[in-house]
Parts: sequence; C-alpha cells; structure tokens
Amino acid sequence: MSNIKKFRIKSFKEKKSILSLDKISLKFGKKIILDNLNLKLNNGQILGLLGPNGAGKSTIFNLITGLLSPDYGKITIDTKVVNEYPIYQRTLKYNIGFVPQYGGYFHDLTVYENLQAIAEITIDSQSYRMEKIDSLISKFELDPIRDIKADLLSGGQKKKLVIAIALVSDPKILLLDEPFAALDVMTIKTLQEIIVNLQSNNKISIILCDHQARDLLACVDTAVIIHNGKVVAQGTPSSLIQNIEARNAYFGDSFKIS
Ligand SMILES: Nc1ncnc2c1ncn2[C@@H]1O[C@H](COP(=O)(O)OP(=O)(O)OP(=O)(O)O)[C@@H](O)[C@H]1O
Ligand SMILES: [Mg+2]
Repeated sequence: MSNIKKFRIKSFKEKKSILSLDKISLKFGKKIILDNLNLKLNNGQILGLLGPNGAGKSTIFNLITGLLSPDYGKITIDTKVVNEYPIYQRTLKYNIGFVPQYGGYFHDLTVYENLQAIAEITIDSQSYRMEKIDSLISKFELDPIRDIKADLLSGGQKKKLVIAIALVSDPKILLLDEPFAALDVMTIKTLQEIIVNLQSNNKISIILCDHQARDLLACVDTAVIIHNGKVVAQGTPSSLIQNIEARNAYFGDSFKIS
C-alpha cells in the first residue's frame, strides 16, 4: 500500500457529478460491447477504469468525446445531456482534454510545432501561449527534443507529447487512455504526480484507464472494473483489490500492492 499512501495527497470529497453515463448500451454488429453501463465522475475526482483487453474502456472515452454515439442511454456533462452535441462543441464548451490510446499528434510537426498548433487555436493571448508552451516543455522535459518531428520520437516521448498537448487548453475534464503505456519507471512517477497535482491545484476532474494497475491505483480516488459490458465493481483502490468481483473479473488471485 505504500504507493497509494505516497500519492494520495488529498482525498476526494465532493459528491457533485460533472460527468455521467447512464444506462449506456452499445453494439458493434451483433457484438454487445456495453450493456446498460452506469458510470459517474464527480467534480474534482480522479476515476480509474480497469478491465481486460476489449472490455470497452477506449469505447467509453470515444462516447464521452462524441467520436461514438451510444445505441441507448444518456451522457451528461455538467447537468446537460450532450448526446446530440458534436465533438467540437463538447470539447470546447466543457473543455475536455483527451489523450487517446494511439496517435493524438501531428506526425510531420516538431514537438514545439505540435504544442504551438493547438495553442494557436485555444489561447488568444500570445504571451500566455508562449508561457504555456514553455511550461509544458519544462514539465514534461521535452526541451532536448523540441525540434524533432513527432514521427521520429520514441514511444514514451510521443506519449509525453500527447499528454502535454491535452493540457495546452487547461482542460476541466481530462481523459487519459493508457497514459502510462510505454513510459519508463521514473516518467510514470512524474506523471502520477502531475495527475494528482492537476486535481489538487487546478481542480481538474480526470478519468484514466491503464493496464499498469498498480500505477493507476496509486493515483486515483476511486476505480471501477469493467467486464462483460458493465461496471462489476467499484471503490477506493484499497477496497477494490479486496473485492471478490474485481478479483474474479480482473486482478486474479495473486494480485497484491506491496
Ligand atoms: N469501430 C469499431 N467497430 C467494431 N468493433 C469495435 C470498434 N471499436 C471497438 N470495437 C470492439 O469493441 C470492443 C471494445 O474495444 P475497446 O477498444 O473499447 O476495448 P479496451 O477496453 O479499450 O481494450 P484495450 O485494453 O485492449 O485497449 C473490442 O472487442 C473491439 O474489437
Ligand atoms: Mg483501449
């Protein structure tokens, strides 16, 4: 448990929902992916999604951003049902930052140009734009690679760039699809601290999914296990790892946090 204690600087208290998925069902062809799924993100909360490959985690992010529409069910952001809102309206109106599982950057632009391209759309003031880009370059230690084309970066460097891009517009809701994948141990630790600080200092509400379950549990307030299209277990990290449904569906018998 030492990891969890180390990273849980501040426990989540607020109960007001900023985002909810109510009774969401989705099929691809005849295959049921989500089956009457309910999920709630409270204001200022860090929520972790865990589930086996193909459980529907990335699909949930795509439903929230509007890349996909559910067959049934309601998606509510900040008290408004947004099912009919197109992608750009959801991301701009509710200031949603999204780090997709794959891609999320301009291949032919350098690291600096990638950040600049997004900043030019989202930040009016030139001085704040420069300040923001410089602070993200420094936070993610991108300075040595700022003039390298994104396509030529390593897997972990690309991931850092995409997370930095998602933070350019100071999102209120941040969606992170496997942010720890391809990152080295020290960078994972830095990112965990960044995630917790975004919550504590900037009051950002965050959903993240990852297969690095220990790393995820170390920085979330609460987590859910998605299995067979539903949430089969939810709770704080320490309660979830003891939960029998969670162990059966995801962790297995031998999972421990030392
Ligand atoms: N556009 C699509 N058309 C058909 N099937 C799809 C589509 N998108 C996703 N699927 C299927 O939906 C299921 C859920 O996919 P999803 O990418 O959400 O899983 P995941 O939980 O993110 O998995 P992983 O942990 O491997 O990233 C998978 O069986 C996938 O093949
Ligand atoms: Mg996925």
